[in-house]
Amino acid sequence: MPEKEEQSPKEIVLRQPIVTVLGHVDHGKTTLLDKIRQTSLAEKEPGQITQNIGASQIPTNVVEKICKACLVKFKFQITIPGLLFIDTPGHEAFTTLRKRGGSIADLAILVVDIMEGLKPQTIESLEILKAEKTPFVIAVNKIDRIPGWKTPTPEQLERKKIAATGKVPEGRKYKEAIMFVESFGHQSVITQRKFEEQFYKIIEQISKRGFSADRFDRIASFKSTIAAVPVSGKTGEGVPELLAILIGLAQQFLTKQLVLTNETKGSVLEVKDVVGLGKTLDVIIYDGTIRRGEFMVIGGKNPMITRIKCLLEPEPLKDTRAEKKFKPVDECTAACGVRVAAPGIENVISGSPIVVVNRESDAKRIFIEFEHEKEKVEIVREDEGLVLKADSVGSLEAMLNIFRDYPIKEATIGNITKEAVIHAETNKEPTNMAVIGFNVGVAEDAATMAKDKGIKILSSNIVYHLVEDYEKWSKDISEKLKQNEIDVLTRPGKISIMTGYVFRASNPAIVGCDVFGFLKPGYKLFKWDKQLGVREVGEIKQLQKEGTNVDSAKTGDKLAVSITGPTVGRQVVEGDVLYTNIGSEEFKRLRQFEKFLSNSEKEVLKEIFDLKRKSNPRYGI
Ligand code: GTP
Ligand code: MG
Repeated sequence: MPEKEEQSPKEIVLRQPIVTVLGHVDHGKTTLLDKIRQTSLAEKEPGQITQNIGASQIPTNVVEKICKACLVKFKFQITIPGLLFIDTPGHEAFTTLRKRGGSIADLAILVVDIMEGLKPQTIESLEILKAEKTPFVIAVNKIDRIPGWKTPTPEQLERKKIAATGKVPEGRKYKEAIMFVESFGHQSVITQRKFEEQFYKIIEQISKRGFSADRFDRIASFKSTIAAVPVSGKTGEGVPELLAILIGLAQQFLTKQLVLTNETKGSVLEVKDVVGLGKTLDVIIYDGTIRRGEFMVIGGKNPMITRIKCLLEPEPLKDTRAEKKFKPVDECTAACGVRVAAPGIENVISGSPIVVVNRESDAKRIFIEFEHEKEKVEIVREDEGLVLKADSVGSLEAMLNIFRDYPIKEATIGNITKEAVIHAETNKEPTNMAVIGFNVGVAEDAATMAKDKGIKILSSNIVYHLVEDYEKWSKDISEKLKQNEIDVLTRPGKISIMTGYVFRASNPAIVGCDVFGFLKPGYKLFKWDKQLGVREVGEIKQLQKEGTNVDSAKTGDKLAVSITGPTVGRQVVEGDVLYTNIGSEEFKRLRQFEKFLSNSEKEVLKEIFDLKRKSNPRYGI
């Protein structure tokens, strides 16, 4: 009998983790990546390094060589097929790109200039990482700029090792890959102290933002503490540790998400016009294999199916910022960055998800799924609430999540149009009269209409900013409304009738007064009578300051007050103190709006309360 053939278990293939490099402008993201690439290129392996649309492949054997000493030290082997880096711009104008880079990242490097610390786009990047729950490492860059810092030469380090161990170490192949720990030990005590000072300033700034971080070699658990690796993109110090930690994190925490399947998925990084090709899509494929001739289903506002006409992979280059040359390829396996030419992609929005399949029936099925997905998250027409707009299903989900405590009238994909403004206007609550857009444009006529109708348009590329802006705006609106409400109440005020300033005794009585608190014509007044308690004395008819009528008066004013009701010499006399007559219900409302009252109004309110309580024990209850 022939032996039964043993079935081999399905081989698990891991893809490279996508590592996005984020940080403030000029903190050294590109230089750091260049260093990693240069180091590898210098070792004559140019064919293995592909750099795509801001994306560069660093294969395992190259990483291995760069951080060989580290791997020995940390006792682990590389099992993933290298790293795919995505460089992002740090300039404030490129939030969308950072966000996009952040959202497809498996891992990230947050680059911080050791001399500058956290800056606005560093903080923005932190927020993106937090929102996406992306594990990251902090590269505290430019350590060579610490005053007194001296980068050791490999020869110096070797001599040190020989002196310490008495053995000749294995030849250092990568002269630029100096470990931070080696270099740190080489610095003077003063320089080390200066370094620690700067370094821990950054750690403190990071911890203030709710992240626990520490120097990578002082960390007990990489799960609970973020590793901060001091590096120099200029000299390469610390790069071995940085790469080793990235690999370590990926292998320890991400292997499940890195298993390569045969479902080809990706994300549109950019939509570009290319001479000779027309509109093309720069995409990042994070799973499966993309092939020429296959069907590509693109999600977004209007999901579509197209067929891949041409696939272009960039040729290896030394610098990502150099003019890129692309070569046509038949296929490309994740994780990779690739340029796609296909018909009908003119209106594709960056950030849209893509799925690539080779059967048209599958494409149709996925197209329907995309449509459903859109319908699932889109909310259309509740009675009352905010109008939300976003550029993609994912963005809309993020928005709904962050606005979960607020009523939502509708949440749809697309730009802010006149229609959205009209829908917001049908709300009753003033704080709902807003259209909020995430990663979308605002049509000009919509902006004009919103202005005319008093509808607020809030638009940003950072979801957190939107919620902050909305909260601030709705708070302002509520305060204004409260202010209006307080204006219909009698506010706390008192006057004392100055001796010798009775201009008229009655009909109306006109007296010169000192004012404390707040007064307005129409307010009723009372006085406290030791025997009779609270006694209403009349109503303010007019307030006159230096001969002209005024609408109101406040603490410090000296005015002529005309009062209908009393006769001076009978119900009131010179020297009397009269209070604004605040009813029990009004008192309770005023207490709610107390923060809108001035300190002197608060004081008078307290006096009024004490007096009223003496006459009526239920006052203010
Ligand atoms: P954007 O892409 O514009 O956000 O900037 P970036 O973060 O990519 O910075 P880039 O790499 O372009 O570096 C900015 C400047 O800092 C350049 O002049 C670099 O030479 C310099 N630089 C970067 N890294 C280092 C470093 O480690 N040490 C020193 N001394 N200079 C550095
Ligand atoms: Mg750059």
